[in-house]
Amino acid sequence: MAGGSDAVTLIANVPLFAALDEKKRKVIASQGKELTYKEGASIVDEGTMGVGFYLILEGKAEVRKGSKVLATLGKGQFFGEMSLIDEAPRSADVVAVSPTRCWALSSWSFSSIVKSNPEMAIVMLKEVVKRLRAAQSSPTS
Ligand code: CMP
Repeated sequence: MAGGSDAVTLIANVPLFAALDEKKRKVIASQGKELTYKEGASIVDEGTMGVGFYLILEGKAEVRKGSKVLATLGKGQFFGEMSLIDEAPRSADVVAVSPTRCWALSSWSFSSIVKSNPEMAIVMLKEVVKRLRAAQSSPTS
């Protein structure tokens, strides 16, 4: 089953999809696929073109720029949206720091879902602003 019941459950509980009704969430869940990564595996590579959007189902991933850790993301958090939004290369590496399962959407599905559910864009924007504020307040090195 594409997406899996796990993805349906998680999607119901993450802020990004919380405003959508159950029917929509089920359709969305069926459009993604689950991917698993071993500890240390690279999920996204800085500088490459983005082909997917990721939601963490289980595990932890670090967002890294060179030797700097920009953020640690866990269950229910997303990444990979930036490159899909502006069609520019990935802004950072994202590396699994424990065995990690993600639910991933292709760039095409991501665009189509966001266009038909604009309330998602607002939630995503709020999270991106939160990350920008955190980045601004973190010491530079
Ligand atoms: P993208 O540029 O497609 O690929 C790398 C991803 O890391 C990026 O999308 C964001 O999802 C995430 N990311 C980049 N910078 C930060 C940051 N400062 N804090 C949290 N996540 C980030």
